[in-house]
Amino acid sequence: MGRHRTSREDLRERIRRRRLTVGVLGMGYVGLPLALEYARAGIRTFGFDIKPEKISQLQQGQSYIRDVPTAALAEQVQTGRLIPTGDFRHCADCDVLFICVPTPFTAHKDPDISFILQATESIAATLRPGQLIVLKSTTFPGTTEEYVLPLLQRTGLQVGEDFFLAFSPERVDPGNRVWTTANTPVVVGGVTERCTELAVAALELVVQKVVPVRNPRVAEMAKLLENIFRSVNIALVNEMAQLCDRLGVNIWEVIEAASTKPFGFMPFYPGPGIGGHCILIDPYYLAWVARRYDFVTNFVTLAAEVNESMPFYVRGLIEREIARLPVSLERARVLFLGVAFKRDVDDLRHSPALKIMELLWHDGVRQLAYYDPYIRSVEFLGRRLESMPELTPTLLRQQHIVVITTDHSGVDYEMVCRWSRVVIDTRNACRHVRRSRARVVLLGSGR
Ligand SMILES: NC(=O)c1ccc[n+]([C@@H]2O[C@H](COP(=O)([O-])OP(=O)(O)OC[C@H]3O[C@@H](n4cnc5c(N)ncnc54)[C@H](O)[C@@H]3O)[C@@H](O)[C@H]2O)c1
Repeated sequence: MGRHRTSREDLRERIRRRRLTVGVLGMGYVGLPLALEYARAGIRTFGFDIKPEKISQLQQGQSYIRDVPTAALAEQVQTGRLIPTGDFRHCADCDVLFICVPTPFTAHKDPDISFILQATESIAATLRPGQLIVLKSTTFPGTTEEYVLPLLQRTGLQVGEDFFLAFSPERVDPGNRVWTTANTPVVVGGVTERCTELAVAALELVVQKVVPVRNPRVAEMAKLLENIFRSVNIALVNEMAQLCDRLGVNIWEVIEAASTKPFGFMPFYPGPGIGGHCILIDPYYLAWVARRYDFVTNFVTLAAEVNESMPFYVRGLIEREIARLPVSLERARVLFLGVAFKRDVDDLRHSPALKIMELLWHDGVRQLAYYDPYIRSVEFLGRRLESMPELTPTLLRQQHIVVITTDHSGVDYEMVCRWSRVVIDTRNACRHVRRSRARVVLLGSGR
């Protein structure tokens, strides 16, 4: 009689032979592309979500995420390789489970890891020997070992022996055509060496380069460093842009000039504020955990403060231009171009444009409208607002102020400048426009 194979050997063999079942919890911007990638690699993949409407849409082969083409999704669903489901008992059928659920903050900007805990409970309910769990949601250092691990170990199973646990942060950049799930390297840190080794093998099925690190904390902290690096650098140029407005120097020309240095400089650009699910939130995750260690992240928090002040700064620019026209705040018609949080995406989360609209509303500006080819309607201050169906010279002429909050690439900025009374450009979207520049007020240009 042969020796009984251990859980680790069994799982390693399944991964090696690509005879495994994968489960992804959370069918959002991160989880859906990942699940699709495994399915396309020929691996049976369950896609779990708590929202029944998402599951039924996926079951019909319809994608709700721009980077996931419906045709590619439908093919995998029809062949039965990708199985969208709201039935978490199927976690028991999976050898490898990825947790890709949201990690928002509370109203007071403290971390809210309740979705991670809920997803972990779903896995713990049917945990069995031979399963590997990989947390991918962005979170503070210590989450995997201090919060996820105890829930799984309550089952009596041992990590590194019976089941395996790792953290591997997601780096997907929605809208990026060059860097995709397959060709973007990923970092992974397991709770034990065996956990790391198995997680590397599982990830290598769909990712070309997997970088193992010592433990989950290194991986958790690396993700925060990557995002906070961006937050700090964006804050720096945002502060510089405000100074340039006073000095009468054009920050965009300054950045272009500095970018000619071939080493030691990397361009970042100012804007109306940071939105989305990552860069805005992550500094608060780090600041929160730091407080537990009697440490105040002054630098990181200052960057967040500068970035969060930008919608207020842009509000000031808009109200100044309204006053110059002159027209009263009540009668001023303001059109926003682009409300998604960044270019060419349909993601509205923490959009600075919405924040600016709210601030203007509080100041008495009532005639607010927007045009965004990616966002059909928005809700702000309990009101529903539809996007203008089309951007036309007539629509532009009717406005007192046009504010470019997001520089979507499909917009004709030449036309915007030609027909608008005043354009407030917070993204330098009109840089190639030659005529009618007199009407453009460019953030950070000193006018
Ligand atoms: N969007 C990005 O570009 C990006 C990039 C890198 C990292 N991240 C991180 O990845 C994580 C997920 O982000 P996202 O953008 O995919 O979020 P998302 O909101 O698009 O998707 C999350 C999905 O998880 C589902 N969900 C919530 N609780 C669940 C549970 N208990 N079980 C199963 N499903 C559940 C939600 O219904 C939703 O469909 C976050 O931590 C985020 O910070 C996001």
